[in-house]
Amino acid sequence: MGKYIIAGNWKMNKLPSETYDFVKEVASATADASCEVVCCTPFVCLPEAVRAAEGTHVKIGAENLHFEDKGAFTGEVSADMLLDLGVSYVIIGHSERREYFAETDETVNLKIKKALSKGLLPIVCCGETLSQREAGITVDFITIQIKKAFAGISAADAEKVTVAYEPIWAIGTGKTATAEQAEEVCAAIRGVLTELYSEETAEKITVQYGGSMNASNAAELLSKKNIDGGLIGGASLKSADFAAICSAAK
Ligand code: PGA
Repeated sequence: MGKYIIAGNWKMNKLPSETYDFVKEVASATADASCEVVCCTPFVCLPEAVRAAEGTHVKIGAENLHFEDKGAFTGEVSADMLLDLGVSYVIIGHSERREYFAETDETVNLKIKKALSKGLLPIVCCGETLSQREAGITVDFITIQIKKAFAGISAADAEKVTVAYEPIWAIGTGKTATAEQAEEVCAAIRGVLTELYSEETAEKITVQYGGSMNASNAAELLSKKNIDGGLIGGASLKSADFAAICSAAK
């Protein structure tokens, strides 16, 4: 299965002035981790985050990017700008961006292509709403999201993508999907990737679970065959909690 990756998604939290010390804290608290450790921070925190991560095992990610190279896109940030700072990862298509900032499957696909063409590693989010789950269409819905996200992406590029399965009803709610629910969808995602590419390619792709993952439920979720990591919101804001999740990823 894919390489274990635990990524923190700070969302709109922490100040630039708090970032350096916090990333240093994460680096020392996760020094023994056997997974890839990533902190995805607000744009304005990235320079300090990169500076703090320098010479450590911690990788830094952004929470979004624009799909164009440059130009009249007020308020947006390009892949080249992120690379110029030393950023390695970028979250694409988080459900909050889809809901509040009109992100669509089409813009998600454009952003993944742009990130890959520049050498940034995308963490691509998918996930169903509570009503979709209750209607029994979770796997169908996620299958469409994955197919649209990966449209026109070669197998060689697909291997560099991380998929984060984040049921929307579990994000920031304290309601975690059970390990069985999470595994069922992560296995379905692996199945779609097998259909799109091959078993070999699908197995190289990291599939994360995200949604109220914390220090106490991480080990069970991460013990599942198709869950290769986590995208962590709330619990990534405390270095001890985040480190506990990282040590559960073996
Ligand atoms: P949460 O957020 O861990 O706070 O539920 C996860 C995410 O949205 O990536």
